[in-house]
Amino acid sequence: MSPAIPSFQMNNGLGIPALGLGTWRSAEGREAEGAVRHALEAGYRLFDSASFYANERSVGRAIRESLVPRSEVFVTTKVWNTDHGYDAALQAFDNSAGRLGLEYVDLYLIHWPVERLRLDTWRALETLNAEGRCRSIGVSNYVVHHLEELLDHSNVVPAVNQIELHPYNYLSRKDTLDLCRDESIVVEAYSPLTKGRRLRDPRLRRIAEAYGKTPAQVLLRWGIQHEFVVIPKSSHPDRIRENADIFDFSLSTEHMEELDSFDEALATAWDPTDRP
Ligand SMILES: NC(=O)c1ccc[n+]([C@@H]2O[C@H](COP(=O)([O-])OP(=O)(O)OC[C@H]3O[C@@H](n4cnc5c(N)ncnc54)[C@H](OP(=O)(O)O)[C@@H]3O)[C@@H](O)[C@H]2O)c1
Repeated sequence: MSPAIPSFQMNNGLGIPALGLGTWRSAEGREAEGAVRHALEAGYRLFDSASFYANERSVGRAIRESLVPRSEVFVTTKVWNTDHGYDAALQAFDNSAGRLGLEYVDLYLIHWPVERLRLDTWRALETLNAEGRCRSIGVSNYVVHHLEELLDHSNVVPAVNQIELHPYNYLSRKDTLDLCRDESIVVEAYSPLTKGRRLRDPRLRRIAEAYGKTPAQVLLRWGIQHEFVVIPKSSHPDRIRENADIFDFSLSTEHMEELDSFDEALATAWDPTDRP
């Protein structure tokens, strides 16, 4: 049995599991439901969904039907780009909560920093937070100028910023990471496995061999040691277990520094840096 998954503390005093299951491209139905069920069995307690992923019904059903108490599970979903604005975001939340079949979500995120309306959207999230319908609120794909605008115009500092993050873009994201650290915003690393694109990197494989671990496990462990929440996606039970088996070893300072140096500004998704 692997050691339990630890938690990090958010700036509102609540905990967030250090590792969770990503669900983008886990299709609604048997795939997404099975992935969540296997992950719960493997000890995962954080599940990352979004209205855009079109799988909230399956994610919610697997959680509701499990024997794990709701209070021990951390559910994230996100407001999509077409639902920005105060009223639209409130409605989008109701729709997501309805599809999940949950009275509250643990974390509600603005999925992308859509121009013009994002501050109105944030006010809706503040309302939902005050009503207790989202225990924590945060953002995704926010870089420095998006965060500074939000910090200048909001009452609640986001608890989380979910961004693409792995050794292959770490140094390029340093200004955003520094601001998050200064504001005690937890950074959640999406695509922490580079969507699989760098798992054959010989430098990464050499480090993995030194610990008897897989390249995927080294990428995830690197994130944890930087105190980033990591949310790898898989719908295969063996990989779901493999990705959680990262709490019985530590990367040395030298290997952490070597991994930090892999930066090549890799963006496997749309890069938010140039978005106004
Ligand atoms: N906020 C945003 O804008 C945003 C954007 C992208 C992603 N995300 C979130 O972050 C999550 C993770 O990111 P991601 O899905 O883009 O990519 P990822 O987790 O980096 O990689 C997922 C890919 O790696 C494969 N994989 C998983 N474990 C593996 C292992 N141990 N060995 C080899 N291959 C493995 C998966 O295939 P199998 O499923 O076949 O195992 C899948 O093809 C998403 O699912 C989503 O929840 C958020």
